[in-house]
Amino acid sequence: MSSPTPASTDAYVVIGNPIAHSKSPAIHAHFAAQTAQQMDYQRLLAPLDQFAATVHTFIAAGGKGANVTVPFKLEAFALATELTPRAQAAGAVNTLKFDGEKILGENTDGIGIVMDIVRNAGFALRSKRVLLLGAGGASRGALLPLLEQQPAELVIANRTVAKAQELAAMATQYLPEAVVHASSFHDLDGHFDVIINATSASLNDELPPLSATLFSSATLAYDMMYGAQPTAFLRFAAEHAAQCRDGLGMLVEQAAEAFSLWRGVRPETAQVLMTLRAELQASAVA
Ligand code: ATR
Repeated sequence: MSSPTPASTDAYVVIGNPIAHSKSPAIHAHFAAQTAQQMDYQRLLAPLDQFAATVHTFIAAGGKGANVTVPFKLEAFALATELTPRAQAAGAVNTLKFDGEKILGENTDGIGIVMDIVRNAGFALRSKRVLLLGAGGASRGALLPLLEQQPAELVIANRTVAKAQELAAMATQYLPEAVVHASSFHDLDGHFDVIINATSASLNDELPPLSATLFSSATLAYDMMYGAQPTAFLRFAAEHAAQCRDGLGMLVEQAAEAFSLWRGVRPETAQVLMTLRAELQASAVA
């Protein structure tokens, strides 16, 4: 006979549409076991036009918090009654915490990528030349946490240059001392210490039109996407001798930040990252 769920078990969900593929329940189950937290974490599919209603139903049932994924991060931003400075700057919310009437909105994506680059990959960003490719939501979410690391310069390159210019202007409003520039792909020059692909090009196995001269053997090429096979961007970077890293570590680190906000304890991430990597590799050969 299975033991009943203890009354003190707190309920969390990841809300998206689609959601069946989400690795978040496995990640949070691992964190909960490791830190001995009484919590339950499930996937929750919200109909495309029912995000707010789905959240309110979950709160009414006693839910304590939620991760929010595609396509609801902007609606989560609008639904929150309070926003952290990081969520405000990101313009999107991936983590909600419920407390009575209060719905706190946070964005842990940006700190997730910083933790993965600085701590897991061992690449300091301070005083480095950083190139951020893309000017959509993924780029905006990462921008301020990256600038808080005080790179010597951060260049945002985008197909539509006006969007890169808007992001650069927004960043200097928040961090006036930050050295941040906008560029087209064509006008980029010199080489960069870290190049982050935040475009959605990888979804179509495409890559932005980049010159090979931007990369050197000391460059870290980072794709926010991950998969069983390297993305077109990472294949191109590897051909030009760069060190390559995909976004699996970012996924785990953003989850650890959310867990920490909810539970007040930050889990260790190395083991869960190794497990997920092994599962991905096994799925590649299966
Ligand atoms: P997300 O939330 O994933 O960031 P988004 O807001 O739609 O998605 O932004 C997608 C980003 O990828 C944009 O910067 C887009 O460039 P444009 O602003 O010029 O549209 C970029 N992008 C998508 N496909 C691309 C491609 N094949 N080459 C270069 N950039 C691409």
